[in-house]
Amino acid sequence: MIFQAEFLCSNTDWKKCPEADLPEFAFIGRSNVGKSSLINAMANNKKLAKTSSTPGKTRLINHFLINKKWYLVDLPGYGYAKVSKKSRNSWGEMSSAYLQKRNNLMCTFVLVDVRLEPQIKDLEFINWCGAKQLPIAIVFTKADKVKAGERQSNIAKFEKALLETWEELPPQFVSSSVKKSGLDEIISYINEIIS
Ligand code: GTP
Ligand code: MG
Repeated sequence: MIFQAEFLCSNTDWKKCPEADLPEFAFIGRSNVGKSSLINAMANNKKLAKTSSTPGKTRLINHFLINKKWYLVDLPGYGYAKVSKKSRNSWGEMSSAYLQKRNNLMCTFVLVDVRLEPQIKDLEFINWCGAKQLPIAIVFTKADKVKAGERQSNIAKFEKALLETWEELPPQFVSSSVKKSGLDEIISYINEIIS
């Protein structure tokens, strides 16, 4: 359970992030997939991370201290077409440097919108993590927005696409920040890793 969550700082450079003295878990995914909403739902605090219906809200590496025991990181979304190519590249560089260099990073949760069929951007990012041997888990978000059948079919298609490159599928979760479902499973998974 998350009983304490506090915002620490925002950075553009992984080198300026808090000292890597606690285990860390990052949340990433396409812009607007619901990263900040998921973080807020897990912490039961609507004001913790800034959310928006306009994509591209999170632009920095945002650190939160959870239960004084681990860091949670809200990363900017990838694949948002409306920002300039230059700023898109700098976001990509910022996140990719952070993901590869941050040595207390235990797992990156890659959020995938369960309403959609497999998206190239998500598969590319997940395969990039695989190539870099970064530990990931997948969170299918916005489960409240689709019927169970469509949800299962989209997840099955996603798994099939992943199995073209992955021998074994990464851990998976299905969540809704609105219905507050799937949150305890994610928190338990984190607690298992840190304990
Ligand atoms: P960026 O910071 O821009 O990359 O976006 P983000 O991934 O942090 O998304 P954010 O949490 O700001 O949510 C984007 C939009 O999706 C908001 O309008 C949220 O209210 C909505 N949303 C997020 N999660 C859910 C969910 O589980 N269910 C539903 N129905 N809507 C959601
Ligand atoms: Mg956000």
